[in-house]
Amino acid sequence: MSKENKNIEMDKIISLAKRRGFVFPSSEIYGGFSAIYDYGPYGVELANNVKESWWKYMVRNREDIIGLDSSIFMNPKVWEASGHVQGFSDPLAECKKCHSRIRVDALLEDIGVQADEKMSEDEINKLFKENKDKLKCPKCGQKDFTESKSFNLLVKSNLGNFTGDWEQEPVYLRGETCQGIYINFKNILDSTRMKIPFGVAQIGKAFRNEITARQFIFRTREFEQMEMQYFVNPKDEMKEYKKLREYRWNFYLHLGINKKNLKWHQHENLVFYAKEAYDIEYNFPFGFKELEGLHARGDYDLTQHAKYSKQKLEYLDPYTNEKYIPHIIEASGGVGRTFLALLFEAYTEEKVDGDERIVLKLKPELAPIKIAVFPLLKNKPDLVNKAKEIFDNLKTKYMCEFDDNGNVGKRYRRQDEIGTPYCITVDFEGLDNQTVTVRDRDTMKQERVKIDELEEYFRNKFNG
Ligand code: GAP
Repeated sequence: MSKENKNIEMDKIISLAKRRGFVFPSSEIYGGFSAIYDYGPYGVELANNVKESWWKYMVRNREDIIGLDSSIFMNPKVWEASGHVQGFSDPLAECKKCHSRIRVDALLEDIGVQADEKMSEDEINKLFKENKDKLKCPKCGQKDFTESKSFNLLVKSNLGNFTGDWEQEPVYLRGETCQGIYINFKNILDSTRMKIPFGVAQIGKAFRNEITARQFIFRTREFEQMEMQYFVNPKDEMKEYKKLREYRWNFYLHLGINKKNLKWHQHENLVFYAKEAYDIEYNFPFGFKELEGLHARGDYDLTQHAKYSKQKLEYLDPYTNEKYIPHIIEASGGVGRTFLALLFEAYTEEKVDGDERIVLKLKPELAPIKIAVFPLLKNKPDLVNKAKEIFDNLKTKYMCEFDDNGNVGKRYRRQDEIGTPYCITVDFEGLDNQTVTVRDRDTMKQERVKIDELEEYFRNKFNG
């Protein structure tokens, strides 16, 4: 993948994702469910490969970072301490004609006006009114809106509340995974040998009542985050932050994303506790948008949880005896957004002998299927049995797919569209001399390989 983003329309990606089993709209047979999506058979493989790459890069490659899998539900006090109950909101208005709910900051952004995250309800309303003439409802085109109101994004549930009045005492589905890391800081110190600086990484679902569902899986109400919180001595915070930014940037290059399609966005208006905040943005067809946030958060998180839980969340340095509340730097990315960026990055249309070929040029380690195995013809038992034997052997090492449907040309095209780097075909010549053809997705060249050398052949291909 070495090209710049090629202005691929979103519709092409949505269509491929549906047609080839990457992403389905949720509950489709019931008319769908807004801003929720299901990952299909190839989607789950790609998403798992993204997560595995992240885990290897963030946890296994690093002796100073360990993993965690905390629960989705937490004591509701967690969300009071974190500030989400009071302040985790977006400005919402309603179109008076069609009653669509509209995210005011997004509507303003569409006409080039930035509404700051820190603005009060009144300040947003002022900006909203000032630009009223330029704004129209994205659904019906009318220009008559209600006032903007703050709308809390936390998703409520009645878990464990049997009194019936759960609206008054809700529990929340987590709005971000990192809170589970902060509240386990003491457990991790007590149960491991980690010494500051160290990080805790976690991948998991998060939920937000997003007002506008836009741009396919870019903004959904249920999504997966890949977060790492790095605990540091306050004096080292900015030094470590710089290192982490560089490390995270390189992750996206490592996934095969062209650096021309990535850029840094520095936040100008920071929340009061933050020292610095940057986003890594990807060049989506709807503009450069956030893939991942990197934040120097100071001691805010542990101080808040210490205050609300009345526990000591300090660190005693075993070498210097210095006692302090660690500062936290965080890397917070999304599985869905990385997945979407990879689809755009890999999607390629080519002309082959007058025909159009669609191919996903994913890095082999990310491809949902690594090797597809075909018998040339499905009604020839010798070909089918040999192909099955090869499939059974390779499937123990690689994610493989067996396919005997339709002609081989069509099977190749199908595998191209899901990004399979190699296709093996068992033909009559191969039955005679114990060989197969191996076709390369990108060059479409085929080479003949001895069956008993296939394992070594792919070992070199995938590890080379
Ligand atoms: N703990 C910090 C945090 O949650 P964030 O910028 O709100 O920060 C981090 O979210 C990342 O999570 C984003 O960069 C994005 O990749 C992903 N994300 C956030 N909201 C999302 C949504 N509604 N749909 C899909 N991904 C989302």
